[in-house]
Amino acid sequence: MGVLQQQVALVTGAASGIGSAIADAYAAEGARLFLADRDADRLAALAERYTAQGTEVATAVVDVADAEQTRQMVESCVSELGAPDILVNSAGILTEVPLVDMDVETWDQMIAIDLRSVFLCCRWTVPHMVARGSGRVINIASQLGIKGGEGLVHYSAAKAGVIGLTKALAREVGPSGVLVNAIAPGPVFTPLVDGISADWKKAKQAELPLGRFGVPAEVAPTAVLLASDPGGNLYVGQTLGPNSGDVMP
Ligand SMILES: NC(=O)c1ccc[n+]([C@@H]2O[C@H](COP(=O)([O-])OP(=O)(O)OC[C@H]3O[C@@H](n4cnc5c(N)ncnc54)[C@H](O)[C@@H]3O)[C@@H](O)[C@H]2O)c1
Repeated sequence: MGVLQQQVALVTGAASGIGSAIADAYAAEGARLFLADRDADRLAALAERYTAQGTEVATAVVDVADAEQTRQMVESCVSELGAPDILVNSAGILTEVPLVDMDVETWDQMIAIDLRSVFLCCRWTVPHMVARGSGRVINIASQLGIKGGEGLVHYSAAKAGVIGLTKALAREVGPSGVLVNAIAPGPVFTPLVDGISADWKKAKQAELPLGRFGVPAEVAPTAVLLASDPGGNLYVGQTLGPNSGDVMP
């Protein structure tokens, strides 16, 4: 028996990187998966793979920044698998541009996809959890939301916002049995960081106490811990940092 046997996990950004690794880890622990992403082809391939391995799965092609699409996504999850026991907000983008050159659209797009989306997915999912008196919400922030990063005022602000939202919501719904936490990974090899120069990555790795970036499978176990009983039972409004030692709050 896995530690998440029969639980319904709604994972956004599930088609790639950290979200995909979390879906894999949850499937291995017996969860039923509702996978959401804007990448329809990858979602279809994943659904086929999970079905073949005996994991119950449903999918939604969705823009997580869109209020109506995310509302429908949660409704589909409720009707196809049941109300989510676990919500993982992992969908996100990363762009890099100094503030002095940043156009307003770039700022707005980052806040929409990396912060507004977390509000929206919580807004439609958490009422089901509160009504049932249990649930786990796991928001994927970033250590850049704690330390900041050059060329990343928009990303750092969005991720700091996710950490603040996590703390506030944890206080609101903790008494109803819904535990809300964040994970703030350090640099992890995924398509998100493909665009960053090899020189920067080399210099960044040298600066880390661990001397290397992580891989998604090294972040996913933290999401299993936060979703599990009793492992995650006492985490409320926390930000856990699988980050190679980049930040030590
Ligand atoms: N990789 C890292 O170094 C790192 C570090 C810290 C935090 N994070 C965070 O982890 C999360 C996952 O990132 P990743 O590294 O796995 O990246 P990734 O690019 O591998 O995966 C992100 C997924 O989100 C989806 N997505 C993007 N915008 C979307 C939208 N508007 N609607 C629906 N889906 C959308 C993409 O299609 C993709 O499948 C992000 O929130 C990211 O900020 C990543």
